[in-house]
Amino acid sequence: MCGIVGYIGNGNVYDILINGLKRLEYRGYDSAGIALVSESGDLNVYKTVGKVSNLENFCAGKNTDAKLGIAHTRWATHGEPCDNNAHPHFSEDGNLAIVHNGTIENYQLLKDALSEHGCKFYTETDTEVLVQLIEYIKNENKCELIDAVRSALKQVIGAYAIAVVEKNNPNQIIAARKSSPLVVGIGEDEVFLGSDGTPFVEYTKDVVYVKDEEIVIIRRGEPLKLVDFDNKESKVNVDRLQLSISQLEKGGYPHFMLKEIFEQPITLTDCIRGRVVNAGEHVMLNGVFSNIDKFKEVNRIIIVACGTSWHASLLGKSLIQDMCQIAVEVEYASEFRYSNPVITDKDIVIAVSQSGETADTLAAIQIARQKGAFVYGISNVVGSSIPRETDSGTYIHVGPEIGVASTKAFTGQVMVFTMLALSVAKIKNTLSDETIRTLVNWILKIPSLVTETLNLDDQIKRLSLIYTYARNFMYLGRGYSYPVALEGALKLKEISYIHAEGYPAAEMKHGPIALIDSEMPTVIIAPKDHLYEKIVSNVQQIKSRGGSIIAIVTKGDTVIKELADHVLEVPEVPECLTPIITSIPLQLLSYYIAVNRGKDVDMPRNLAKSVTVE
Ligand code: G6P
Repeated sequence: MCGIVGYIGNGNVYDILINGLKRLEYRGYDSAGIALVSESGDLNVYKTVGKVSNLENFCAGKNTDAKLGIAHTRWATHGEPCDNNAHPHFSEDGNLAIVHNGTIENYQLLKDALSEHGCKFYTETDTEVLVQLIEYIKNENKCELIDAVRSALKQVIGAYAIAVVEKNNPNQIIAARKSSPLVVGIGEDEVFLGSDGTPFVEYTKDVVYVKDEEIVIIRRGEPLKLVDFDNKESKVNVDRLQLSISQLEKGGYPHFMLKEIFEQPITLTDCIRGRVVNAGEHVMLNGVFSNIDKFKEVNRIIIVACGTSWHASLLGKSLIQDMCQIAVEVEYASEFRYSNPVITDKDIVIAVSQSGETADTLAAIQIARQKGAFVYGISNVVGSSIPRETDSGTYIHVGPEIGVASTKAFTGQVMVFTMLALSVAKIKNTLSDETIRTLVNWILKIPSLVTETLNLDDQIKRLSLIYTYARNFMYLGRGYSYPVALEGALKLKEISYIHAEGYPAAEMKHGPIALIDSEMPTVIIAPKDHLYEKIVSNVQQIKSRGGSIIAIVTKGDTVIKELADHVLEVPEVPECLTPIITSIPLQLLSYYIAVNRGKDVDMPRNLAKSVTVE
C-alpha cells in the first residue's frame, strides 16, 4: 500500500507529482505529501491528512518551484493518519527527505540504537527511522547519499520502495526496492518514478521494473544506473508499458467501479481473445500448453490468494476438480505462508492476484518454490512482481482496475480458471471433445450474456432503495454459487460498511439461521443447477422465519419466484459458468446501496487496492 512518485526533468515538477499521486490514490488515501528541491537547492516539504485534493488545497499559494521532487499517498501502518505522520519524512538536520511504501520490521531496534546516539524522532512512523539512519551514516562516514542509502538498507529488515532527495542537490534522486513495487519511466531528458506506471503513462512507455534489492541512481543528464547493496552495477532492461491514458479515466461514469462493472462484456472478450483455438474446438492457455508434462503428472494443485482473488480461487477449485479430476486445495496466502505446508515437486501451486503485488501471496510463492513446487501465476498487471516470480502463468487481461472493490478482475479470474480447467482437461483427456466444444461455445457467448445481465441495472437501482438502511445482510449459495455468495457479501461490506455474511446455504441451519428475522435480508444465489431443489428448501426455511429474500434465479424460474420477495432473473448458462453471470447483479446491488448511503465507492475507508504489507 501507499503510492510513491518521483520526477526529475524540465517539466512542471509539482503538477506531474500531484497528477501522479492522484493516479496512485487507489493504493492509500489517508494523507499525502510532496518534497520539492528547487534550482537553488531549497528543500520544501508540504504534507497534510486526507486525499491528494487536500494536499493541492494546502499547497495553493506556496512556493512549488522545483527541479525535482518526490511525493507520497499513504495507507497508514505505523502511527495514525495525521499531518505529522504523513510522508515525506525529514532527517533530523532537515537535509534529507524520504517517501516509503512498505514496513520496516526492525524499526524499533534501529530507533533505540539511533536514540542512544542522540537522534530525536518527531513522528510515530517506521519511515522516519530509515531516513534518520541514512543521515546518521552519511554524517558519520562523510559519504555520498548513495553510499549512505546502501549501507542503511543493509541494516533494514522489511519491505520497502523508497525515494530519497537531499537539500542543495536539484540533480539527484536515489530510490530502491525490496518486496514493494517500483517502476522507473524513462523519457527524453526526464525520469519518472512510480509504484506503478500509471503516474507517467502520458509521458513515456519506456519503463524499468526495479528488482528486489536494487538501488536506482537517477542523476540529471546521466543515464539511469542500477546497483545492488554492494555497489555492483546491473544491466538496465527497458520494457514497454502496456497501458493507455483512456484506461485510467472514468469515461462518463460517476465512479470507476460502475465503469468497471459495465466494462465486463469487453474485458471478458479480451480475456478470452486468442485462447479459443481450432475454430472453437477447444481453448488452450499458453502457460498450460508450454508445461504439458507438469499438468499431466500433477499430483495436487494448491491455490493461494487473498480477498476477492481467494473467492475466484474457490471457483477455480470446483472447475479444476470437476473437469480434470485433480485434487485441489485453496489457501489464504497469509495462512499458507506460516502453516509449514506439505508440498512436493509433484504439486502445482497457483497464485492468484489482480495486482500481482500482494505481499502475502508473494511470500506464499517463495515458500512454494523453496519446496520444489511448480508455481503458476494468474494476474492482471503486466510486469508486476507475481508474474515475474512464478514459473509460468496467465494474464487475465481486463485492463487496469481502479475501483478498490474488485469486479471485472473477479470475473476475469474466474474465466481464466475456466479456460485453465478446460486446457488441462484436454491434455489429461478427462472431458470428451464434445463436452469441451459445447463449453467453449458457451464461453464465447458469455460476453453478450453479461451484457444481457447488465440490463438488470434499473431494477437493481430501484431495489437498492428498499435495502439502503439494512444493518445486516446474509448471502447464501451452494456449489458454484457458494463462492459467489462470499464475494457478494464482501462487495457489500467493503463499500457500504453494512455487515454482510456469506455462507454455504445448507450450513445456515447450524447457526446463522438464529439471526434471521424481518430485519435481516438474505440474498440467495439460486440458478437452475443440480442443487436447485436443495436451495428451494433453504429459501422456505428463511421465509418461515420471517426473513426477506432477494433471489438471483435463472430466467423463467417459477418456484423461487413464488417464495422470494424480489427476484433478479439472469440468463441460463451451464452450471460451471453461472458464477460469472450471477456475480453481476451482486456487484450492482452493493454499488447502488453504497451510493445511496453516500459512501466513497471507489475509495472505501481503511482499504487499499494493492496490499503490499503483511
Ligand atoms: C485488497 C483489495 C481486494 C483484493 C485483495 C487481493 O484487499 O482491496 O480487492 O481482492 O487485496 O488483492 P490481489 O491484487 O492479490 O488480487
